[in-house]
Amino acid sequence: MKKLVITSIIALLGLAPAMSTMASPQDDLKKFRSYFFKKFPGVKLQEFADGIYGIDKGRRIEWEAMEEFPPYEPGVEIGKELFEKYNVGKCFKNGGIGIRQNYPWFNKKTGKIHTLEADIMTCLKKNGVDTKKAKIGYKKGKLAAISSYMAWTSRGKKLNVVIPSDDRAMDIYNRGKRHFYAKRGQLNMSCADCHMYYSGSMARGNLLSPGLGQVTHFPVYRKKWEFAGGGNPALAGFGTIQRRYGGCNKQVRAKPLKAKGKQHPEYVALEYFHTFMSNGIKVNAPGIRQ
Ligand code: HEC
Repeated sequence: MKKLVITSIIALLGLAPAMSTMASPQDDLKKFRSYFFKKFPGVKLQEFADGIYGIDKGRRIEWEAMEEFPPYEPGVEIGKELFEKYNVGKCFKNGGIGIRQNYPWFNKKTGKIHTLEADIMTCLKKNGVDTKKAKIGYKKGKLAAISSYMAWTSRGKKLNVVIPSDDRAMDIYNRGKRHFYAKRGQLNMSCADCHMYYSGSMARGNLLSPGLGQVTHFPVYRKKWEFAGGGNPALAGFGTIQRRYGGCNKQVRAKPLKAKGKQHPEYVALEYFHTFMSNGIKVNAPGIRQ
């Protein structure tokens, strides 16, 4: 009898995590959304696209003032010039215009996820750009400016990330989901701790944004980054979602993940899950942030 109880406990323990990762992405999305609708009654789905400015009226006024003379405009203009100079449109459907909402996407042939930034990088290389010499990386600067321009042409389109019923896509999705809910760093906190359970509260002087809608306005343009690292401030201000992931890993004193010459697969998985959670919300990138 005792033995039976123990084996069934072991079976239960073994099954529980498997079951929780087996929920369908659609079920996950429903639960994720309804969590935030309950937590922030009266905030409409599209308003989550504005991060803290969607949930706090006072801060929203500050943000509207910044939007009157958007500091990202010169950078988007440079992004457009680079997009044209490097013939980026040639590598994408619809000439690269109005397609941001479909990223990241799962490639059935290779079993891999494509982020927009990775596809831009592949395109630059294909078009003969010496990305090393031109110091083009994934997270900021020129590539983030091209990505911002492409996102800007997609404003108003609803995010539409597809998770096909393919084991390889589901594995990546579940990896991203685990990253979002797993505790890490010296502070032992998860993305969900700050951007679900404590969203709307203050953490060291910062209002924490809801995890819903966070990706719609990426790349973002941050005042904090403008003069960091030198170079043209109009370009330096941009950062992709994966740059932000690294920053948030640091918030809990965990090391940001680095992969030489490519995007880290863990962040790619996180971006896949995280963007899917905001499906149905319109792209409004690039956003301005402090
Ligand atoms: C200790 C708390 C904390 C943790 C844990 C944390 N973040 Fe953040 N995050 C912040 C703060 C503070 C900001 C800046 C204020 C804001 O917009 O929420 C921020 C901002 C962001 C933003 C930008 C929001 C915007 O509107 O520009 C994204 C995206 C984000 N975090 C994602 C994540 C992800 C994904 C994880 C898990 C890897 C994570 N964060 C973990 C504190 C945290």
